[in-house]
Amino acid sequence: MPTLEEKLASALNAREKRQIRRRLSDPKSDEDLVDFHTNDYLSLSTSPDLRARFLNKLHSAPSVLGSGGSRLLVNGEAHHALEARLAKFFNAPTALLFNSGFDANVGFFSCIPQPGDAVVYDEYIHASVHDGFRSSRVKNGIFAFEHNSLNALGELLLLLLKEHPSLCSGEQSLFLAVESLYSMDGTLAPLTQMVEMIETLFPKGNGYVVVDEAHATGVYGPQGKGLVALLGLERRVLARLHTFGKALAGSGAVVLTNTLMRDYMLNYARSLIYTTSLGYANVISVDCSFDLLEDGTAKKVCQFFCCTNSMLTSRQLATRLLDLSTHFLDTLRTQLAIYSIPTHILSLPPHITTPPPDSPTLSPSLSHLPTPIIPILTSQPRPLSAYLRVKGMNARPITWPTVPKGKDRVRVCLHAGNTSEEVEGLALAMVQWAREQVRGNEKSESTTVQSKL
Ligand SMILES: Cc1ncc(COP(=O)(O)O)c(C=O)c1O
Repeated sequence: MPTLEEKLASALNAREKRQIRRRLSDPKSDEDLVDFHTNDYLSLSTSPDLRARFLNKLHSAPSVLGSGGSRLLVNGEAHHALEARLAKFFNAPTALLFNSGFDANVGFFSCIPQPGDAVVYDEYIHASVHDGFRSSRVKNGIFAFEHNSLNALGELLLLLLKEHPSLCSGEQSLFLAVESLYSMDGTLAPLTQMVEMIETLFPKGNGYVVVDEAHATGVYGPQGKGLVALLGLERRVLARLHTFGKALAGSGAVVLTNTLMRDYMLNYARSLIYTTSLGYANVISVDCSFDLLEDGTAKKVCQFFCCTNSMLTSRQLATRLLDLSTHFLDTLRTQLAIYSIPTHILSLPPHITTPPPDSPTLSPSLSHLPTPIIPILTSQPRPLSAYLRVKGMNARPITWPTVPKGKDRVRVCLHAGNTSEEVEGLALAMVQWAREQVRGNEKSESTTVQSKL
């Protein structure tokens, strides 16, 4: 019988052999590389303005260290004030802070759906949602549908309604869990059509949409309020999750929902009850990020930003970010076509292979929205990422089990602080690498032919 140590080491070795062992990278080795991998979409983590606002507020704040305990024990004034601000900003009935987006998803999905309810989720939903409903009291009612497919969702919902009369009668509820911007694919959910479908199929009001806006926060919508706000769906979804750790350069998260859901989570969400709440410094930093979103300016985003000394609003940063995305894609598409790069070596996924004319799954307004997340499909994500690293760029390989088998990629995350030259350089380097692969393959094929002659 193997010991615990042997079992653990053998699992890690198996991962090593399959080249899927996770490791922390050496912090020093990432220095000086152009950032094409973090979720710091608006480059606020390097904003001198945000830093100055934060340090100023820290100076005058009554409490800055720790928070002293669980939200239920020490109900901090700063936490209260931030929740009130966020509920107003996002046009939501109430707001509840969590220590992270992960905790928020786990908290919501582990406690809100009741026994006998059904949870339907996009197959690409974040791991935290899985962890939430796995620990919920919904046992046989959890179903995935094909990513962003309205047809697949519709068929699944009709089947569930047929098989479960209690869903038709309104005695049981159905929860639809989606993200607005998917982190691995950079795809946008057809939220309006999904909400309409739920409203049509569940006229008794027992169908609920829950939207994770982790990657859309700060990027889309008026003042960066997200896709739900952009589409005017605030009152038609049950809950929205906004995280602070990505475009807002902070950490923690907020769930926007109604009073009943908030009260229920305060009583039953274990990831909220049994943990020390966000420290005051953390709450202050988030408050400062929302100052920027609301009306502030982000001065001198980064020293390498093309227009140093200029004052850019957070909206202008988001626009710049999405313009960079269009520029990167235009450059890459042109280069891939010029050199006829085979798709197994390097390609863009179908939703961005060409600028989309009319996508059946997305409303026209959304199908043309650029996104800061661009997956570059390749069967060799690690060698491509290593090649880019040598050229001074940090774009990470993503492989199974994080993405489905056969969908390995290098994921590019763009930032408002990237320059046009940098994104062009990235596209050119990727295609250069692909051309070297093509040449290498041709050489080895001709050697094989010659050796057979
Ligand atoms: C879609 C999505 N939801 C939730 C989370 C978790 O958020 P946090 O990083 O605040 O824990 C992430 C983080 O990667 C995410 O991508």
